[in-house]
Amino acid sequence: MSDFLSACRSEPHDRVPVWFMRQAGRSLPEYRAIRGPGSILDAIKNPDLAAEITLQPVRRYGVDAAIVYSDIVVPVHAIGFGVDVAPGTGPVVDVPFSCAADLQRLRPLEPELDTPYVIETIRTLVRELSVPLIGFAGAPFTVASYLIEGRPSRTYGKTKALMHSEPALWFALMDRLADIAIASLRSQIEAGAQAIQLFDSWAGALHRTDYRTYVMPASAKVFAAIADLGVPRIHFGVDTGELLDSFAEAGADVVGVDWRVHLDDARQRVPAGIALQGNLDPAICYAPWTAVEAEVRNVLARNDGHPGHVFNLGHGVQPEMDPAILERVVELVHREGRVRPLED
Ligand code: CP3
Repeated sequence: MSDFLSACRSEPHDRVPVWFMRQAGRSLPEYRAIRGPGSILDAIKNPDLAAEITLQPVRRYGVDAAIVYSDIVVPVHAIGFGVDVAPGTGPVVDVPFSCAADLQRLRPLEPELDTPYVIETIRTLVRELSVPLIGFAGAPFTVASYLIEGRPSRTYGKTKALMHSEPALWFALMDRLADIAIASLRSQIEAGAQAIQLFDSWAGALHRTDYRTYVMPASAKVFAAIADLGVPRIHFGVDTGELLDSFAEAGADVVGVDWRVHLDDARQRVPAGIALQGNLDPAICYAPWTAVEAEVRNVLARNDGHPGHVFNLGHGVQPEMDPAILERVVELVHREGRVRPLED
């Protein structure tokens, strides 16, 4: 059993595992060399290229898990909603979601027909990888925020307006997006992904009551619908300190924690048996190594050898980051991140 999978299950193992969100692409020069021009969605449609990009950070950093090179908008793009990813900006939508008629634009996803390239990339990867592969999907709220706003947003004004003015339409939208995430995740697991992560990156924009009323039921539906496949389920969002217990309650085995909440405090907010993933502040990676080193040690100390810890950044790798620093982070976590033996 790999350290990564053991940590996800809070089971005994020796060494704290580490991987980085958004480790594929971003700051790697070898990524820029083979990525080619055009939309990332085209690169994702090329399984040989996507598999190679997935492998690059595993080779370079020696991380304990790979994450498939894809994007959270791939399924809605594939069913023809009219979504692209603009370089340097993120997802953009031709005609944003605004009314009940737009539900027709969100037909069910048929992964073998709509996203065969993701399945093929994963099949190639599981043949080549020596560490587990993480599949993923965007959570209904975060994907909805792009479909409704039409582009990345800071306020989520249109999203919250729809949620509060037309709850029936909101829940119908959440349900369609939950079904799309379920179909995508099941196909990824069936192709060989050994863990999955549900990215609800922007759920932290909501207060607890709105999260639990308008969002959690759809994410819980996703987790419940893949439970039978038996792979660890990671649930991640940014600025979710007030939502960590709800993130666990939605049905996750591992809860992602950003850098704003120390791991020992986060541990108090989730039930025993739920593992944590995180939470080095990504921005600290721009500081001199001595500062990075101190922060890595601080994260490890806050975890205090608990078996349920997957080391990661509190959010993703940024394009300007020096890969050499991330290499040193992995090396330090592997050298000093030790799991406490079980007390009897
Ligand atoms: O983690 C990985 O390395 C695997 C691949 C991955 C990508 N996107 C590739 C990508 C994953 C897991 C994602 C998830 C994703 N996509 C999220 C959730 C994760 C998070 O950070 O919270 C979100 C919100 C998106 C939507 C999205 N796609 C954004 C905001 C951007 C950034 C725009 C930019 O240019 O910086 C993208 C584009 C994107 N997705 C890139 C990559 C490697 C970079 C652009 C490119 O290479 O064309």
